[in-house]
Amino acid sequence: MAKQQQAIQAIRGMHDILPEQSLYWQWLEGQSRQVLGAYGYQEIRLPIVEKTELFKRSIGEVTDIVEKEMYTFDDRNGDSLTLRPEGTAGCLRACLEHGLLHNQSHRLWYYGPMFRHERPQKGRYRQFYQLGVETYGMPGPDIDAEIIALTDRLWKQLGIRDKVELQINSLGTSEERLAYRGKLVEYFQQHLAVLDEDSLRRLETNPLRILDSKNPDMQTMLQQAPVLLEHLGEESLAHFNSLKATLDDLGIAYQLNTRLVRGLDYYGKTVFEWVTEHLGSQGTICAGGRYDGLIEQLGGKANHAIGFAMGMERILALLELLDNVPVAATTDVYMIRVGTSAEAAGMRLAERIRDAIPGLKLQVNCGGGSFKSQFKKADKSGAEYAIIIGDDEAQRGEVALKPLRIDAEQSTHNHDQLLQTLQDWHSQ
Ligand code: HAM
Repeated sequence: MAKQQQAIQAIRGMHDILPEQSLYWQWLEGQSRQVLGAYGYQEIRLPIVEKTELFKRSIGEVTDIVEKEMYTFDDRNGDSLTLRPEGTAGCLRACLEHGLLHNQSHRLWYYGPMFRHERPQKGRYRQFYQLGVETYGMPGPDIDAEIIALTDRLWKQLGIRDKVELQINSLGTSEERLAYRGKLVEYFQQHLAVLDEDSLRRLETNPLRILDSKNPDMQTMLQQAPVLLEHLGEESLAHFNSLKATLDDLGIAYQLNTRLVRGLDYYGKTVFEWVTEHLGSQGTICAGGRYDGLIEQLGGKANHAIGFAMGMERILALLELLDNVPVAATTDVYMIRVGTSAEAAGMRLAERIRDAIPGLKLQVNCGGGSFKSQFKKADKSGAEYAIIIGDDEAQRGEVALKPLRIDAEQSTHNHDQLLQTLQDWHSQ
């Protein structure tokens, strides 16, 4: 007897989306597409694998993502490739490569899996889905406000607006950040005893990220640290104030978070996050900001860019908590066929029904079974009606139609009458 093989399981932190869950995903994807369409955004589809160099140069050599989280491998030619940990770098690479940024502005979106080798926990996965938006060629702050308004509209449409809060900050220009960095390092050096191991390491490499620390023992010290917003020049301040004025004008509430710095290096000026208290420690459902400087860093001419990405698993987890997803049934009508001629007649009739009523969801029983067992399957399918064909019906060119969700008698129809009845019901 053959030895039973051990089953192979999915990789830790990478999840299957089972048929029942995919209904929720489809609903969220549909709502998102509809909102993106309402603002005139176009979809771009990008490769999942890029050259490692792209992420190193854009996200930053001394960020968590590049230092410890990338899925990097040499392909058969010996080139170092990486499964994309995010979409911004690839999107900009594609636009530069295809000359999309010459005297043009673009509003783009993309959707798909991203990969980060993080410690898995609820809301943090190694393969996760982002829906991202990137815009090019617009200096802002009007476009900054637009992409925030777009997300605000999506939360309202999903019914989660009162569960999320918008946090905004400005990181100024690279010169302003550099000057501030000096002051910040000076301040931290006076408080070395309070800094944890991670922060001591960051002090050398990326001191602004220390501001983001959630370590409770460091909070008092961090609250008194110099504030970047107070070190911004006139132009950066005017940009930020104008963004705030537009948000006020649109009635979009926000929280100023002067310690919001983001975990990727390419940002300057506007940054924002949508956060919720309902998902524990992984509460950021959407985040983004302006990254004008990255365009030149990737070999383009000076230009403007701002975007964001939302974590689909986190939004779904929030929707699940609130139980707000209207999920449509996958089957409207289930066809029961018992007997050889009934099976053939049923298959032909099903194709005729699909020709006549393209939107109707019709499932045909396959694999045989008694009337009783097929009725059970019909019931489980969620269908509103069962079409029943035995050999007698097949010979007479008739079918029985039985409503499954209301207490009503079954009725007999010829094929033309059945088509008419289903059509009338479906168009209601
Ligand atoms: P990010 O903050 O790294 O930004 O990710 C954006 C969102 O993706 C997060 O707020 C979160 O909802 C989700 N996310 C990130 N990591 C995970 C994970 N391990 N598991 C589940 N969800 C996760 C970016 O990726 C930028 N590219 C956003 C951007 C676009 N900025 C400008 N344009």
